[in-house]
Amino acid sequence: MDNPENESTPETVPEEAATETAPEEKKICMDTVCRILDSFPSRSRQFLLPLLSKIQNEFRYLPEEVIELVMRELKITRAEIFGVISFYHQYRMSEPGKYIYRLCYGTACFVKGAPIMAEKLKEKYNIGQGETDATKLFTLEFASCLGNCGAAPMAIIGDDSYGNIDPEKTIPICENYSL
Ligand code: FES
Repeated sequence: MDNPENESTPETVPEEAATETAPEEKKICMDTVCRILDSFPSRSRQFLLPLLSKIQNEFRYLPEEVIELVMRELKITRAEIFGVISFYHQYRMSEPGKYIYRLCYGTACFVKGAPIMAEKLKEKYNIGQGETDATKLFTLEFASCLGNCGAAPMAIIGDDSYGNIDPEKTIPICENYSL
């Protein structure tokens, strides 16, 4: 490292994340969905949000066939469930890239260069908020605050946290990740 004080600091090593299961290897298992449904006291719509969150934690997004099943089980309409999904930005309707790139866009990170980082990601991978690059390596999501403003600008890539990022190193950091 040329200048350790300015170097972005991975809190965990990217190699660990590189061993994650590739998204395409994750099959939609309806038994798993049923098990998740059964983990709630009843098929009541009052559990819709935690149910969707659990499903997304499992599959990384909300597959169409799973949504259909939830609609039937909770007896809710398509309009109702899609109303909820589109209102809460954390839900994804399409399969994300292998790594979720969470770029902090809170005030401290914004001032310290988050927009420059976003610009570099756009140039290199052609992704904006909520978008996945053509190779399905990264899905970019903006966060309102990642809870470590003293280390702004912050980003979390997969399971790795980076702080004090030099915006000019945005792409070199990404190059630690591959499909
Ligand atoms: S504003 Fe980025 S970590 Fe708080």
